[in-house]
Amino acid sequence: MTSTARRFRLAVLPGDGVGPEVTGAAVDVLAAALAGSGLELEPTYHPIGGAAIDQGMEPLPPATLKAASQADAVFLGAVGGPRWDSGPVRPEAGLLQLRRQLGAFANVRPVRVLAGLEELSPLRPERVRGADILFVRELTGGAYFGRPQGQAGAAPSRRAVDTTEYSEKEITRVLEVAFRMAGERSRRVTSVDKANVLATSRLWREVAVEVGRRHPEYQLEHCLVDSFALRLLLRPTDFDVVVTENLFGDILTDEAAALPGTLGMLPSASGGGEGPWLFEPVHGSAPDIAGRGIANPLGAILAVSMLLRLSLGRPDLAVAVEEAVAGAVRDRCLTPDLGGSASTSEVAERVAGRLAVRL
Ligand code: NAD
Ligand code: IPM
Ligand code: MN
Repeated sequence: MTSTARRFRLAVLPGDGVGPEVTGAAVDVLAAALAGSGLELEPTYHPIGGAAIDQGMEPLPPATLKAASQADAVFLGAVGGPRWDSGPVRPEAGLLQLRRQLGAFANVRPVRVLAGLEELSPLRPERVRGADILFVRELTGGAYFGRPQGQAGAAPSRRAVDTTEYSEKEITRVLEVAFRMAGERSRRVTSVDKANVLATSRLWREVAVEVGRRHPEYQLEHCLVDSFALRLLLRPTDFDVVVTENLFGDILTDEAAALPGTLGMLPSASGGGEGPWLFEPVHGSAPDIAGRGIANPLGAILAVSMLLRLSLGRPDLAVAVEEAVAGAVRDRCLTPDLGGSASTSEVAERVAGRLAVRL
């Protein structure tokens, strides 16, 4: 690198379980994508989740938050696992705080069925062929953050409460992100709610209608979450951009993983506020396969492609990563969740190798 290279500071938070495995793969692919680009990757590594708890720290140590806030982008593997499930603080609390502190209210989760991988879906190939949905999940509101929240009393009279609360401002801003993203696609937005039962959903729908009126050139459809959950599997190609609240978005995007056939393929990017964007695979720490070197790194690698687009403004490099992923898939360099026998590092090396050939 020459001394004129622009530095790109990436705060890397590997976390728990397969988190470090897929993060290592993603950083290697990012380095390969940036080779010869004039951008110098400067990764720094920080504990979060169970990894931080094990070192006697909080799940989001202040130094990790500081490094993340000051970085150009943040990359996170996964947090959580059975080891910490009964502890006084949960690893997941670290991730929730991080999203909130970064102001990452919009969580963008593309779900695509790559050409040639249709037969790996548990759904019929003709049903999933061409499926390409962009979920925009509200990420810093709703039941995840509403107060009061907690448990009280003693058995047999224990009670627990969660609070779902949304303000007009919270709904408006995430709807605006969805419309903006739909502008680069087919201009169709589906807003998912439970307006027949929940007050927060009725407000969600009212605001969605109002935001929709400001974008008359877009087609806005409203769908109740229960029937959406079914339509997603029966007719996935009906949808383009789907916007919904935090909890529904969490559940529906895991369900959408049935389209490609594995959670290991789905990337995610969260942002919209003052802080840098946060990139992660959608999946968790996968304790059932952690430590075996067989986690699918493609979700994390496709999150790198989102980073190249959203944080670096390099759609050309983002496309190069996507093409390298498609190439690895065509080569049948696949991890066991996709019916292959390749390891995490073999897949990452194949993708990085295909990127190197491009130079
Ligand atoms: P999970 O997403 O970790 O795993 C669900 C299933 O998908 C498992 O069978 C797993 O083996 C498989 N899977 C996940 N990622 C994969 C990959 N890259 N390659 C191949 N297979 C993969 O969900 P879970 O088991 O319900 O949760 C485990 C822990 O992860 C929990 O503590 C949960 O809170 C946490 N979690 C964290 C995040 C995050 O950090 N963003 C997301 C979801 C869950
Ligand atoms: C996700 C995860 C997180 C969420 C957990 C780990 C807090 O499931 O990113 O989808 O529920 O948002
Ligand atoms: Mn989830």
